[in-house]
Amino acid sequence: MAGENIIAALDIGTTKVATVVGEVDDDGRIYVIGHGLAPAEGLRRGVVVDMEKTVKSIKKSVEDAAMVAGVEIDSVTVGIAGEHIRSINSHGVIAVSRTDNEITAADVKKAIEAASTVAIPVDREIIHVIPQEYSVDDQSGVRDPVGMSGVRLEVEAHIVTASITTAKNLYRALERCNLDVDHIVLESLAVSQALLSESEMETGVVLVDIGGDLANVSVFYDSAIRHTAVVSLGGKNVTNDIAIGLRTPVDQAETLKLNYGAALASMVDPEEMITVPGAAGRAAKEVSRNVLASIIEPRMEEVLSLVVREIKKAGLGEIPTGGLVLTGGCSLLPGTVELAEQIFDMPVRCGRIMGIESTPDELNDNRFATAHGLLIYGFHHEPVRTGKNGSMRSFLKKFENWITKKL
Ligand SMILES: Nc1ncnc2c1ncn2[C@@H]1O[C@H](COP(=O)(O)OP(=O)(O)OP(=O)(O)O)[C@@H](O)[C@H]1O
Ligand SMILES: [Mg+2]
Repeated sequence: MAGENIIAALDIGTTKVATVVGEVDDDGRIYVIGHGLAPAEGLRRGVVVDMEKTVKSIKKSVEDAAMVAGVEIDSVTVGIAGEHIRSINSHGVIAVSRTDNEITAADVKKAIEAASTVAIPVDREIIHVIPQEYSVDDQSGVRDPVGMSGVRLEVEAHIVTASITTAKNLYRALERCNLDVDHIVLESLAVSQALLSESEMETGVVLVDIGGDLANVSVFYDSAIRHTAVVSLGGKNVTNDIAIGLRTPVDQAETLKLNYGAALASMVDPEEMITVPGAAGRAAKEVSRNVLASIIEPRMEEVLSLVVREIKKAGLGEIPTGGLVLTGGCSLLPGTVELAEQIFDMPVRCGRIMGIESTPDELNDNRFATAHGLLIYGFHHEPVRTGKNGSMRSFLKKFENWITKKL
């Protein structure tokens, strides 16, 4: 890479592989100076199912971005998602080491390590240990205990794990592209960096990223991520429903969805007609736009209802008051916000990318929120290198060095 002030972020989605190259100035402002896009091939539900195709997609996306930015990309901050992701909340407790009872950064690290020694199945690896809050003796709700005085330090941490096989295949695909990994970041966490304000995270907010195969759900309150979950449905299911319902090829169904789709049938004028190309040599036909929306609505309703179920499953009690923020390509479907408001019975807004000084217009929408979030994350965290200059084993060792870094 050209220098420390330039980094690259890679979002391997289920529909597209997006690379963005960012440059940060002395005041910490981030400018996107190049990007590349390639259709995602070889992945299903966030998991590599065809290595050759995956490598090809990543290479194209990264090479295009490198060319536009005029830099070499040899390492990336990459997102990870999928049904294989699990998260649990864990508790760690230690005795403060200094005799004068002042809590040091080393104590905090030890407490976080204690929280991360929960029994993790052998086929899983920890990808994040995120401290939520600390308690010093009997005082709970402490955000930063360093410098405080106490004899016992406790931490509540959110632990995110991934299937080792799935993560290894991701590393392997990147290795094949000659890319080192600066960070591997849970996509929900990445996207929060680009879309949520500090006050929203404090009050409590649900973030829902509806992409191609997946809807990623994350819940934040008291300034920390509290719960993450994945619903295995997304825009591709909507498109397939349209293809079946209107008997049209999948690519035509996708175009109809992008041009005329809506998630709420009541918003659409039943008199408005659209032309549906026929499948397998059949003639085109005219249908009401309302019919298209009536196919989309139940599927979107299903996705959002499963999101509600996931949040309830988390046992968080009331859904956070800050409402719901929608992102991912599906959030661009007109009526999605209104439909979600009906289902969640709370304020819903569509995400808007923040924390980036400038980015090309064509990147400034919710399909690219994850890529921008990864960029912000990458700039705010020291890199942990893997790939050609390290191994999976050294990556896991280095894990110790970065668990103390907060969100
Ligand atoms: N303007 C739009 N209106 C409606 N749907 C859209 C629009 N743009 C994109 N989509 C849909 O959004 C989905 C892709 O979203 P996104 O780019 O967020 O997914 P991804 O990141 O590739 O996948 P995932 O997050 O599931 O891994 C596709 O199903 C696409 O049809
Ligand atoms: Mg995505």
